[in-house]
Amino acid sequence: MNPPNHFDSIAEVFNRIWYFSDAYKDFVIGHIIGDLSLSRNDILADIGGGTGTFTSRLMEEAKLQKAYCIEPSGAMCEEAAKLENITAFHTDAHAFLSTRTPFTKLLLKEVIHHIEEREPFWNAIFENLPHGGKLLIITRPQTVEFPLFQKAKEAFFHNQPSYELFESQLKECGFHVETAHRNHTFALPKKSWYEMLRHRFMSDLSLFSDEEIEAGIVEIEQIYPEETINIIDNLIFITATKK
Ligand SMILES: C[S@@+](CC[C@H](N)C(=O)[O-])C[C@H]1O[C@@H](n2cnc3c(N)ncnc32)[C@H](O)[C@@H]1O
Repeated sequence: MNPPNHFDSIAEVFNRIWYFSDAYKDFVIGHIIGDLSLSRNDILADIGGGTGTFTSRLMEEAKLQKAYCIEPSGAMCEEAAKLENITAFHTDAHAFLSTRTPFTKLLLKEVIHHIEEREPFWNAIFENLPHGGKLLIITRPQTVEFPLFQKAKEAFFHNQPSYELFESQLKECGFHVETAHRNHTFALPKKSWYEMLRHRFMSDLSLFSDEEIEAGIVEIEQIYPEETINIIDNLIFITATKK
């Protein structure tokens, strides 16, 4: 099994701190169902599915045949295993594919930057998918509009590969690739945003000590004096279809 990852430490609070809003979740779920053309015949593999919240909603709303949440963090996977309408696999992306479990659609939401050796990974997905099968990557650009402190923005930039790299690797593998850039803007009470930062809701923040996070919050406070803060989430949806 893999060594514990950053998400082990935030599993318990993950659903609460990575909350954003119901409108945000509806926006993401709607696009996943549309981009993956999810329907009742589909078996969905949600790789890096975390606590399974999205997997479970997709199962219910698209009336899927089956949905798997594949999650290497034991603590996150335990949360997913509590959801009765999905199956949780405590394993990582490569190990899951090597089991040759059949699926027709595959979701990689906010996880692709954690997966190493991506070229063999794309090839294994291409082989496993039936014709008409699809994979969807949801990721972010290297430069984001999140109200982060400067050092956190730099860490994000360094940890996030360019999305064009994924596009070209997928095309090389034989997939038909379509990309959509979609922004979602909403306001959060600043104290909620600071709680998210203190809990290091993004793994890029795990590099910083408590003191550095507090100094970062002071930096943000100087730029945004109001009680609420506007969050602009720049999301990139890359759909790859095996024709
Ligand atoms: C930002 S969270 C996203 C969780 C979920 N997809 C969501 O959007 O709510 C990233 C997740 O990817 C998982 N992860 C990290 N490395 C992975 C790997 N090699 N294979 C599969 N999942 C991985 C982490 O444990 C974590 O739960």
